[in-house]
Amino acid sequence: MNVAVIGGTGVYDPAWMLDAHTESVATPYGEALVTRGRLASAPDLSIIFLNRHGTGHALPPHRVNYRANIWALKALGVDRVVATAAVGSLNQAMAPGHFVLVDQFLDFTKSRPSTFFEGGEAGVVHTDMTEPYCGASRHRLSLSAAKWGIPLVNGGVYVTTEGPRFESAAEIRAFKLLGGDVVGMTGVPEVVLAREAGMCYTAIALVTNYAAGLAGQPLTHQEVLDVMKQQSERLRQLLAEGLPR
Ligand code: HPA
Repeated sequence: MNVAVIGGTGVYDPAWMLDAHTESVATPYGEALVTRGRLASAPDLSIIFLNRHGTGHALPPHRVNYRANIWALKALGVDRVVATAAVGSLNQAMAPGHFVLVDQFLDFTKSRPSTFFEGGEAGVVHTDMTEPYCGASRHRLSLSAAKWGIPLVNGGVYVTTEGPRFESAAEIRAFKLLGGDVVGMTGVPEVVLAREAGMCYTAIALVTNYAAGLAGQPLTHQEVLDVMKQQSERLRQLLAEGLPR
């Protein structure tokens, strides 16, 4: 089994990896940078790490090269992907600091290439999305959370917005009515492309804030970064035993 971790906002610490070696992988969509190594907190486990937003958070969510990233992982033989993502919460049961293993998504993105199948040589393919996220990986991660006393909810609906702005309070009220639990800007098309590539994909959403209009104060990117930093040790612990083996 070849496992990749896609690190989202606030997950770029090189100290997480031993024997790390970064390389550029050429894909039909451009280059993707990946780091091979062993997870410092679970040295038996070789993984490939991919920094979604590029070095130094250079790429905003709508400009991430999702197709190059997923293509590169597939080309390297990855069959299981565990992605992390900072999210706002629409659900009082998912408080800041909680982890959520999402099991469904709602897609409100607008301008992103979202498929490998553009017709022509690639063909016209309609990929099943009934259960987009990997149940087996979720199960293993939830056992790891229980063992370490990490607050984690197994299941939830991830609303993907286009960003890079945060949402209006009315948008959040509408998403709540539609069944959304958490909101972020990167879940789609990443999960869609991973499914198109036949990979088992899991997203660990880390709640950094209550969504717009629910917290009683404006949102800032800094509070998202601050909570990600506070929780990074827990995330590392969760991954050490929770990653697929
Ligand atoms: N909205 C969208 N994306 C986010 C949020 C949010 O409230 N928090 C962290 N990422």
